[in-house]
Amino acid sequence: MGGAAPRGEAPRFQRSLVGKESPLADDSASNGASRRRFLKLATCALGGGVGAAVAIPAIRYAITPIGEKTVSAADDPIDALPLEQVKPGAPPLQVTLVAPVQRDGWAAVKNVPLGAAWIRRDTGGTLTALSAVCPHLGCAVGFDGKQYVCPCHDSTFALDGAVQAGPSKRGLDPLPFEVVEGRLRIAWVRYRLGGPDREKA
Ligand code: FES
Repeated sequence: MGGAAPRGEAPRFQRSLVGKESPLADDSASNGASRRRFLKLATCALGGGVGAAVAIPAIRYAITPIGEKTVSAADDPIDALPLEQVKPGAPPLQVTLVAPVQRDGWAAVKNVPLGAAWIRRDTGGTLTALSAVCPHLGCAVGFDGKQYVCPCHDSTFALDGAVQAGPSKRGLDPLPFEVVEGRLRIAWVRYRLGGPDREKA
């Protein structure tokens, strides 16, 4: 009958709630789990994003020279002057070859003078570019109106660079060049000094 429950025993209607799973309790637990999962994923995504933002520049900084050209301009043709300035049959012109940018590891230096060249076109239009470094011991070679002259030990060279007199064992060193869109571009090459053979330094 509807009398009071014996001491120590839960009322029946309470026991029935405890014994059966409540739909409201299920929803609440499920929402809580979803929220926790969402927060977990969001935290991971945020942490990953922050980590990548810090790590990628650091890695790039650490490996920057790898795969990049670390020293440039030594072999690259350098813009010298418009070809039309080199008149056929005219005296040779001296130009300074300046590398726009020279890189070495992390350092980049702009407008680096590498050396000088003598440029000439003969009456037939043939172009020559000669290093202005004397192949004897490296002094700067000048032009006296007829021939190239080294002031250090009086070596002289013909217009085509052939040695004529003095201690130099070979003629002036030719430099590779190209003409691109009407402009003369010359590659700077440094050769070993003193010997009869032409070898890159
Ligand atoms: S350095 Fe030119 S002749 Fe000696």
